[in-house]
Amino acid sequence: MSMEAIRYFVPGPVFVRSQVREAMTREIVPHRSQVFIDLYRGLGPQLQQVFRTREDVLVATSSSTFVMESAILSTVGSDVLNLTCGAFSERWHAIARAVGKHADRVSVPWGEAVDPDLVRQALRRKRYEAVTVVHNETSTGVMNPLAEIAAVVRGESDALVLVDAVSSLGGAPVETDAWGLDVVLAGTQKALAVPPGLTVFSFSDRAADRAEKVPVRGFYSDLLRYRRKHKAGGTITTPAIPLVYALDDQLRRILAEGVERRWQRHLGMATRSAEWVGSTGGAMVAAADNRSWTVTCFRPPGAVSAPALVRSAAEAGWTISGGYGEWKPSTVRIGHMGEVQPSDLEGLLAALDECMIGLRREAEQGDRT
Ligand SMILES: Cc1ncc(COP(=O)(O)O)c(C=O)c1O
Repeated sequence: MSMEAIRYFVPGPVFVRSQVREAMTREIVPHRSQVFIDLYRGLGPQLQQVFRTREDVLVATSSSTFVMESAILSTVGSDVLNLTCGAFSERWHAIARAVGKHADRVSVPWGEAVDPDLVRQALRRKRYEAVTVVHNETSTGVMNPLAEIAAVVRGESDALVLVDAVSSLGGAPVETDAWGLDVVLAGTQKALAVPPGLTVFSFSDRAADRAEKVPVRGFYSDLLRYRRKHKAGGTITTPAIPLVYALDDQLRRILAEGVERRWQRHLGMATRSAEWVGSTGGAMVAAADNRSWTVTCFRPPGAVSAPALVRSAAEAGWTISGGYGEWKPSTVRIGHMGEVQPSDLEGLLAALDECMIGLRREAEQGDRT
């Protein structure tokens, strides 16, 4: 396996191996041809291994937000509960309201994880058709206790569990069947390390039964329609065929590494990053129990401003991300997901140490003048 060195650590879209990019240049074939149907049918069993499910896993040509919206439109007639703890979970709440649903939320401050007890209390107050949860809040580097939250939802209600695993699938445990998750969606541009443009999602029988009873599901947004077409071996409309080639190629790479080994590689890099943040005097945003395995969000130490660190790293040839939204000026995010190897991360951390020395020196000189 060729190992290109990576100097790009954005929490999506991530670095894509050249072999996967080259797969996209294969000849275009009609999507109703046998050759494409065979390719498409081959994706299902591979995706099922990554999602840890026996249910259908489907492919949409869209960014993830479209499937977030479609999941609500397809499975919720009226009442939905959104669990929010950052920008992307708040987006799901905004979507639910924008499409006219009665949406309540259980909300915790940015940087915290959703407390399953709060979910229990909300479910005892009112009946919901579905609960949305973002597994890994890319905006804050928090990973929610998904297994516990799903257990509460399944134990307390008959609500569907709709999960955004956009920046965790392939980089942290997501046990679709064992945890009773009805819809799990993930963009391919994150821990799966495929170029952006596709969203993969599981859709349970329970979700399908529920969707049958929702009178207005739209057309393009109707995930039941996707499911019926999927069972016949295809997609509802013309898919982004080059991206499907790339996905097929990358899934083989992921399964060759092994799903669990891949999770462990991500955990190792998350642990190492947190250790490094501590060594610099910086502060991790998330508490140790709720830290993301795929993105590290931290506040740099005293004299070092977050935007200056991002800029200084860029000048040295390393790409990291600033904070998200209101957190842009105060936090830094290192995406260690997809194909990033521990040796790549070591290179980055050494470079960031150098950047910090330079920034501290500048600050000291500034103080003296
Ligand atoms: C957790 C999460 N959900 C949803 C999205 C939205 O994805 P997209 O831009 O593919 O619509 C992102 C993008 O970063 C994300 O990190």
